[in-house]
Amino acid sequence: MKTYKITLLPGDGIGPEITAEAVKVLNAVSSKFGFGIEYEEALLGGIAIDNTGVPLPEDTVKTCKASDAVLLGAVGGWKWDVLPGHLRPEAGLLGIRSALGLYANLRPARIFPPLKAASPLKDEVIGDKLDIMVVRELTGGIYFGERGRTEKNGDKAAFDTELYTVREVERIAKIGFETAMKRNKKLCSVDKANVLESSRLWREVVTEVAKSYPEVELSHMYVDNCAMQLVRNPRQFDTIVTSNIFGDILSDEASMISGSIGMLASASLGEGTRGLYEPIHGSAPDIAGKGIANPLATILSVAMMLEYSLNEAAAAQAIENAVSAVLEQGYRTPDIYTEGTIKVGTVQMGDLVANEAAK
Ligand code: IPM
Ligand code: MG
Repeated sequence: MKTYKITLLPGDGIGPEITAEAVKVLNAVSSKFGFGIEYEEALLGGIAIDNTGVPLPEDTVKTCKASDAVLLGAVGGWKWDVLPGHLRPEAGLLGIRSALGLYANLRPARIFPPLKAASPLKDEVIGDKLDIMVVRELTGGIYFGERGRTEKNGDKAAFDTELYTVREVERIAKIGFETAMKRNKKLCSVDKANVLESSRLWREVVTEVAKSYPEVELSHMYVDNCAMQLVRNPRQFDTIVTSNIFGDILSDEASMISGSIGMLASASLGEGTRGLYEPIHGSAPDIAGKGIANPLATILSVAMMLEYSLNEAAAAQAIENAVSAVLEQGYRTPDIYTEGTIKVGTVQMGDLVANEAAK
C-alpha cells in the first residue's frame, strides 16, 4: 500500500482543534481510497516558543523536509504578542514557508451554493457561481525585506522594505499563468505600479512572461481598485496573481465573499511536489477551546494536499463533495450559521464530513 508521510503542525489557539478534524477526514478517505498515512507532529509558533524558546525549531524544519506534505493549523496569540518580531509565532510561519522554498500560495475563494446566505454580498452580485483563485507570492517582498528601527528628523522611526527580484516575479507569474490555463484563462496581475517602483518591475516582468502564454487574457489592476472591484463585481475575476502583502490582504477580503474566512483553504508550493497546507485564517484565540471553530478551511486544505502533493485526485474530490453535501444538509458552524440551518460545533462538523467522505 502506498503510504504518505505527513507532518502536522497544529500550532496555537484553534489550530489543534481544526487540525484534529482535518486528520479525521484524511483518515476517512485514506481507508476508502486505499493509501496509508504516517503522521509526525512537530512544534511551530507559540507552542514552539513555550517548549523550545524559538518559534521554528530546527527539528521542525527537518521533520517537514522529510515528509511528503505538511498540514498546518494556525499560529499566534496574545500571550506572545509582546515578544520582539523575530521571536513571535508568526516569524515561525514565515520561516517554515521560506525554509521549504514555498514561494507560491494558492488561495481559492469559492462560494458553496448553500452558503450564499452567509455572504455579506447581495445575491445578484454573487450570481450563480463565484470562483476566484488568488495566487500570492509567499517568500519575498516586504515580509522578507530589510526592516528595522531608525531615526528621522530626530524622531524615532521604523521601516520595512518591499523588494522583488526579476526571478522572484517571473516564477510566481508563471504559476499565475499556469493556474489560469487550468481555469478560465483569465489572469489579473495586481500591483501599485502608479506609486511603487517594485510594482513597476512586477508589471514589466509579468508582461514579459505573458508572451509565453498567448492564450491567457492578462489584465493589470491597482490594488486599491482591486479591493473595491472584489466587492463591487467579484465575478469579473478568475485568477489573480499578486505580491506577498497584497495577496495577504486581498485573500482575506475574497474569503469573506464566500461567507466566512473559516471556509478558505490554501496550498503553498515550491519547486517539488512537497507543499504546506493551511487555512488562511488565524489562530482565533478568542474562540480557542470552545469547540465552535469552523474546521472546513483546514479540511479543504487537506483536499488541496491530496490534489497537489499526493496526486490522489479522487480522494480530494471526495472531500470536496463531502463538504458540499454536509452544507447542503444544512449543517453550519456558528461563523456560517444563518436562520433555518443547524448549528454544530467543530467536532461534529468534522464527524459529518468524515462520514460523508467515507461513504
Ligand atoms: C496568512 C496570515 C499570515 C500571513 C500571518 C499569520 C503571518 O495572515 O497566512 O494570511 O500574513 O501570511
Ligand atoms: Mg492573512
